Amino acid sequence: MVKKYDVKDLSLAKEGKLKIEWAAQQMPVLKNIKDRFAKEKTFKELTIAACLHITSETANLLIALKVAGANIVCNASNPLSTQDSVAASLVKDFNIPTFAIKGEDSKTYYRHLNAVLDYNPQITMDDGADLVHMLHTKRQAQIKDILGSSEETTTGVIRLKAMEQEKALKLPVIAVNDSDTKHLFDNRYGTGQSTIDGVIRATNLLLAGKTLVVAGYGWCSKGIAMRAKGMGSNVIVTEVDNVKALEAAMDGFKVMKMKDAAKIGDIFISATGDKHVIDLPAMKLMKDGAVAANSGHFDIEIDMTGLEKIKKGKKRIRESLDEYIMPSGKKLYVLGEGRLVNLAAAEGHPAEVMDMSFANQALAAEYFVKNKGKLENKVYVLPKKLDQEVAKLKLKAMGISIDILTPEQKRYLSSWNEGTK
Ligand SMILES: NC(=O)c1ccc[n+]([C@@H]2O[C@H](COP(=O)([O-])OP(=O)(O)OC[C@H]3O[C@@H](n4cnc5c(N)ncnc54)[C@H](O)[C@@H]3O)[C@@H](O)[C@H]2O)c1
Repeated sequence: MVKKYDVKDLSLAKEGKLKIEWAAQQMPVLKNIKDRFAKEKTFKELTIAACLHITSETANLLIALKVAGANIVCNASNPLSTQDSVAASLVKDFNIPTFAIKGEDSKTYYRHLNAVLDYNPQITMDDGADLVHMLHTKRQAQIKDILGSSEETTTGVIRLKAMEQEKALKLPVIAVNDSDTKHLFDNRYGTGQSTIDGVIRATNLLLAGKTLVVAGYGWCSKGIAMRAKGMGSNVIVTEVDNVKALEAAMDGFKVMKMKDAAKIGDIFISATGDKHVIDLPAMKLMKDGAVAANSGHFDIEIDMTGLEKIKKGKKRIRESLDEYIMPSGKKLYVLGEGRLVNLAAAEGHPAEVMDMSFANQALAAEYFVKNKGKLENKVYVLPKKLDQEVAKLKLKAMGISIDILTPEQKRYLSSWNEGTK
């Protein structure tokens, strides 16, 4: 028998509903799309399976798809990111089968992935490409029924592009992450603020005056570096890309190798999408009492497996804060078990920013319906005019109006005749 849901405790639903309603107030762009969807019934008789972080913002995306006529089913895209109260409310108040429990083990995580695919979706939504991966490895027979799959995050897009390159991709994908109104805002300002929030909630440390090492200077890490600087930290950036490293240096950050930063940092945050960025040699060089956190998608940026092997002792100090005793006797503190700290130790991105990310998710689902049968098995990006539309709605909601090109300016900007006078 297909289990209808798997959440921690349905009695948390009241708290979850209030959270969902509060987030809805900060999501005017999604509301605009939801109102249109409700009239057009865009997803009538379609089933959408969403493997996303189960937060109050995601709940609002799912509700917007449901009022458009879709059958929705969802599971968590990370074992530690679920808000149990929201999961309960999705089941109880919105009748959305939800498979997500904060702290679920790996076996449960994969059981939940299978559970949502048991609903035979026509559209899937991923944050990290786990549904698509499972469809291609364990459940290929279902792929023919799928119109397309949208992908929320950089790491997922990297996996999907690798599949496309190897001609292994068997369905059309939209890289929602690659819309400007997603990564420029969600990855930078969302991850910037919520990562700092996670570090503070887990430790209650003062950031002012601390040496804070940020690994990477991409969209997420840039946001983290910017916000840590604003909190008074001395920020060091490590990079592997020459251009990004130069950009960090010219933005006023110290740039050096991880092995050099390891000796002087107080707090380390990795957000690169890469593996073992904070590796054992770096951890061994760190000062007694150093703190390490990850805000990249998978829990592989800090070498947790290696750390578990060499540790001399381990103690949970408080929620999301573990003390490891190194072979030298020094103490190292790891936040949120090395999983993305902004979701494990805080609440993820603020709703205002998810408003745009999930507007793009909703538009991606609509794109699959409108372009049924026309898309190839490729990784697509939404048309740029949709970015303009999302940004326009957001600006309007923020009470900001901007100038419009005059006909003369339009002509000038598309011609090559006018030069030096
Ligand atoms: N925590 C969140 O809520 C959240 C939100 C969005 C994205 N993400 C995830 O964060 C990660 C980064 O995403 P992004 O959009 O910033 O990607 P990005 O491609 O813009 O940036 C990644 C940067 O890391 C650098 N890098 C790679 N390996 C490195 C290494 N060994 N040392 C130092 N720098 C290295 C790259 O050169 C690049 O500049 C991804 O895993 C993404 O899925 C997390």
